[in-house]
Amino acid sequence: MESKKIISQNDNKKMISIPNNSKVSCGSKKNHNLKTVLKLENVWKTYDLGEIKVSAVKGINIEVNEGEFVAVTGASGSGKSTTLNLMGALDSPTSGKIFLDGMDITDLNESKLARVRGKKIGFVFQSFNLHPSLTVYENIALAMKIHEFSDLDIEKKVNELIKLVKLEHRLDHLPRQLSGGERQRVAIARALSTDPAIILADEPTGNLDSKTGEAIMQLFVDLNKQGKTIILVTHEPDIAEYGKRQVVIFDGQVKK
Ligand SMILES: Nc1ncnc2c1ncn2[C@@H]1O[C@H](COP(=O)(O)OP(=O)(O)OP(=O)(O)O)[C@@H](O)[C@H]1O
Ligand SMILES: [Mg+2]
Repeated sequence: MESKKIISQNDNKKMISIPNNSKVSCGSKKNHNLKTVLKLENVWKTYDLGEIKVSAVKGINIEVNEGEFVAVTGASGSGKSTTLNLMGALDSPTSGKIFLDGMDITDLNESKLARVRGKKIGFVFQSFNLHPSLTVYENIALAMKIHEFSDLDIEKKVNELIKLVKLEHRLDHLPRQLSGGERQRVAIARALSTDPAIILADEPTGNLDSKTGEAIMQLFVDLNKQGKTIILVTHEPDIAEYGKRQVVIFDGQVKK
C-alpha cells in the first residue's frame, strides 16, 4: 500500500488485547465496584451561528462503567450525536466537564484529543465512512499503518478481525463492491484494530435492513461479552433493546 494513500479516520495508536473476562455491569443500577470509564458533568454544547445560538446539549450528566452496553435513544435533533461526539473526544464542550478513563479531557487541544481518541475509542458510523479507494484489508489496517506497526503485526491483527466479522473472502475488495452489512462489518473491524476499550456507534444499523441490522447488533453483543464498553445511539426501539441500559435524550438533556 502506498503511504500517500493513507488518510486518518481515527487517530489510533497501539494494540492492546481484548480482555475475555472483564466484569460487565447489568441493568440501570450503578455498581460502585466498577470503574467509571466515561463521565459527562453538566455538559453544554452551544453552536454559535451568528445571529442565533443553538444549544444541542443542555447540561447533560452521564456516567458509564467499564463493560456496560448503553443504548442512547431520543427523537431526531434531540442531541444524541452531539453527545456521542463529545463522549468520543471528537468535539469539545462549551461548558461542563468530560472525563475519559478518569482523565479530564475537557480542555485538551485537538492533537491531544486525537491521541486520547486513538488509544481508547473506536467509532462506528451510520454511513460506514470507509475509505473508498482502499481495500477491506487496507481500511482495517489504516490506523495501524499510520502508527507504524510492523507489517507482521498488522497482518496478524487484520486476519484476526476479518475472521471476527466473517469477511475472510472479501479482503481484497473495495467498499463499493460490498453490501451495506458487509461494509459495516469492515467498519467494526476497523474500529477494533487498535483494541480500544470503548466502542461508540452512531446509528450503526441506520442504513441496513432489519435482518442485517440484527447481525451487526449480535457483533456488538459479542464484543460487550468480551469486555468492551459499548455506547450506541439509535432511534429504533428494537435496536435499543440490545443495550443493558437505556439513556433517553430529550431536547438536549437526559430524560431518564
Ligand atoms: N454543527 C452544528 N451547527 C449548528 N447546529 C448543530 C450542529 N450540529 C448539530 N446541531 C443542532 O443540534 C441539535 C442536535 O443535533 P444532533 O445531531 O446531536 O441530533 P440527533 O439527536 O443526533 O439527531 P438525529 O437522530 O437526526 O441524528 C439539532 O437541532 C441540530 O440541528
Ligand atoms: Mg444523530
